[in-house]
Amino acid sequence: MGKHRDKKGGMAKSPVYTKYQLDEIDRLETALADHMEQAKPRRYAHSLSVAKTAESLAMVYGADPYQARCAGILHDWCKVANNEEQMRRASELGIDLGVEMRLVANLLHGIIAARELPARFPELPAEVWQAIERHTTGAADMSPLDMVLFVADGIEPLRPSTPGIEKTRAMVGKASLDELYWESFTGGIVYVLETGRYLYPGTLEIYNAHALAGTKPRGGV
Ligand SMILES: [Fe+2]
Ligand SMILES: [Fe+2]
Repeated sequence: MGKHRDKKGGMAKSPVYTKYQLDEIDRLETALADHMEQAKPRRYAHSLSVAKTAESLAMVYGADPYQARCAGILHDWCKVANNEEQMRRASELGIDLGVEMRLVANLLHGIIAARELPARFPELPAEVWQAIERHTTGAADMSPLDMVLFVADGIEPLRPSTPGIEKTRAMVGKASLDELYWESFTGGIVYVLETGRYLYPGTLEIYNAHALAGTKPRGGV
């Protein structure tokens, strides 16, 4: 995958946006502030940070930085609601992950957002909603934009450092986007296992799909 580097070999610079795109980013950030800044100030800061991280990852890896920025701004929109409310809305929307809803409550917000928010922001393309939908679960066929948002969510600079996060951060610009995603995705699984949490079977299915397709980047044993 192509990397964009400046003459000094550093990371790509800021993207050049049209007036429309700048206005839209502004509009989304204002809407997010109205929705989240008071209720969840840390989540709000995280969302803006994911958006900037996703934008720069997109610049490095040849995804669309504008779509990455928009997806980052909105990705945790539905986390303002508590788990009970999210479960209620998921039921109403007919979202069924094949297991008891409370077991996957923390995976619902991306899926709910992808169903509910297009009505509010109809100007945004389907690619943005897909990336938002997949940012909690991953998928067997992640697009570059999907991967950029997934990775950005895990490594944005406000996220407290862990050895796993530092390892992924250090790979940016050196490893391929596939490798970066694989590191983030499997790091999330390892975290679930190490902390004795419930592992959503869909995650295991996605892991196996990658493994069997031979798409895992380092061709492990
Ligand atoms: Fe999220
Ligand atoms: Fe997030």
